[in-house]
Amino acid sequence: MASSSVTAAPVYSDTVVRGFALVAVLYGIVGMLVGVIIAAELAWPDLSMGIPWLSYGRLRPLHTNAVIFAFGGSVLFATSYHVVQRTCQTRLFMPALAMFTFIGWNLVVVAAVISLPLGFTQGKEYAELEWPIDLLIAVVWVSYAIVFFGTVGTRKIRHIYVANWFFGAFIIAVALLHIVNSAAIPVSLTKSYSAYAGVQDAMVQWWYGHNAVGFFLTAGFLGIMYYYIPKQAGRPVYSYRLSIVHFWALIFTYMWAGPHHLHYTALPDWAQSVGMIFSLVLLAPSWGGMINGIMTLSGAWHKLRDDPILKFLIVSLSFYGMSTFEGPMMSIKTVNALSHYTDWTVGHVHSGALGWVGLISMGALYHLIPKMYGREKMYSTRAIELHFWIATIGIVLYIAAMWIAGVMQGLMWRAVNPDGTLVYSFVESVKATYPFYVIRLGGGLLYLGGMLIMGWNVVMTVLGGKAATAPIPMVLAHA
Ligand code: HEM
Ligand code: HEM
Repeated sequence: MASSSVTAAPVYSDTVVRGFALVAVLYGIVGMLVGVIIAAELAWPDLSMGIPWLSYGRLRPLHTNAVIFAFGGSVLFATSYHVVQRTCQTRLFMPALAMFTFIGWNLVVVAAVISLPLGFTQGKEYAELEWPIDLLIAVVWVSYAIVFFGTVGTRKIRHIYVANWFFGAFIIAVALLHIVNSAAIPVSLTKSYSAYAGVQDAMVQWWYGHNAVGFFLTAGFLGIMYYYIPKQAGRPVYSYRLSIVHFWALIFTYMWAGPHHLHYTALPDWAQSVGMIFSLVLLAPSWGGMINGIMTLSGAWHKLRDDPILKFLIVSLSFYGMSTFEGPMMSIKTVNALSHYTDWTVGHVHSGALGWVGLISMGALYHLIPKMYGREKMYSTRAIELHFWIATIGIVLYIAAMWIAGVMQGLMWRAVNPDGTLVYSFVESVKATYPFYVIRLGGGLLYLGGMLIMGWNVVMTVLGGKAATAPIPMVLAHA
């Protein structure tokens, strides 16, 4: 390549990518540690020792916020900022604003870590944070949108790569969901009341909650899939045409499926049925995307044998396939009558969360971090292999225990004697669940152990590497 074109190459704004990648690992460890603590509290409730901020009710939202928004959110920021620059062949639009999103997002995390254990909450699942923090989130998110779409708008090549479509949809949808669902009337600095009432409040909340799954935990991570799997495998995406169909079908369908969280409630029956039908339809685009990701490896399956990063990325898709098969089944009203309120839901959540979101995040970070620090690869490949296996065994223990516990609970609660009285009291079902809570804790400990190994590996990689600040020649720009 001529030296003139080398000098004309973009200098990427990667400081912010490095920052988000590192805090993602830290928040992953913290969020999962809190998950392990609440898993232990469910088995041995006295563990909180009567201390209010250690109680299950306060730590549970801390866990969900930490893993979804602090860990998952930081992974999404890091990867989207990394991918959009490479695929648009240009540096981030307004790098200072990108740095603001980094600082702002971390402030949100700190505010959550303080306010949730103190008991300040709006009481809406995955939207617990009080109104001043919600305002900060809105400002950070709009800034994120300006940086991301500004970068796409100033791209040097005509085409917009499909990963950016998914990241873009995730950014727009989350802005919409957050702003609508957080509408509230403040009564003090730490307390507000929802702008909606009764069943409307429930419907808006689950429109938000379900699309938090659909856009935060799915569309954004599909953006990751469409860039990092082809990169790590050294193969083009299996079908570009399928990726476009996948995109439109997925984003259209997700929006309508929320009522499956409100089966057999005061929500009109027709709305529940609409939610169920759209959930069943959602199986098709979900599996289309999974097939597109997995088949990207066709002709290169042998790479799975000795590339543990690829193992993370591909196995995450099998968990994605499992949870997006299970979800539509659970949305069928008669199935939901059994699964709702039981640990089956928790099993479903974590097959998606640990299996899909967790594994694909780890795979992407293992790919990204050495590149960001000018290293050829991570410090220890064997540690990545070990992480992969203990995480996978941990997931299987977690979800198998919850499935068995969930079906057992559902069957015990509905069992009736010929005279119409209940066969089991509630406490008998809690007692029967105890061994499964202990097994789940074991699975969680393994998963957390894997994350700690990753933390060590990342520290060793960062300390041993030099930051890649030099202009990146065009030929390497996709590396
Ligand atoms: C070491 C790993 C983890 C452990 C031990 C763990 C444990 C737990 C426990 C005990 C609960 C409460 C369940 C209940 O209410 O009965 C929970 C809830 C939840 N966790 Fe985790 N978790 C882990 C990782 C994750 C990750 C990585 C994510 C997301 C990316 C996640 C997302 C959630 C969500 C969304 C809920 C709420 C589920 C619901 O309302 O049905 N967890 N977790
Ligand atoms: C086709 C895709 C999917 C469908 C149709 C679906 C459907 C469902 C259904 C029916 C429930 C139970 C609602 C209830 O009884 O309360 C549920 C719960 C949940 N699902 Fe999925 N699911 C899908 C994929 C996923 C994925 C991939 C994830 C995670 C990455 C996920 C995360 C969750 C969470 C966090 C909950 C618990 C919500 C709560 O009650 O707090 N789902 N899903």
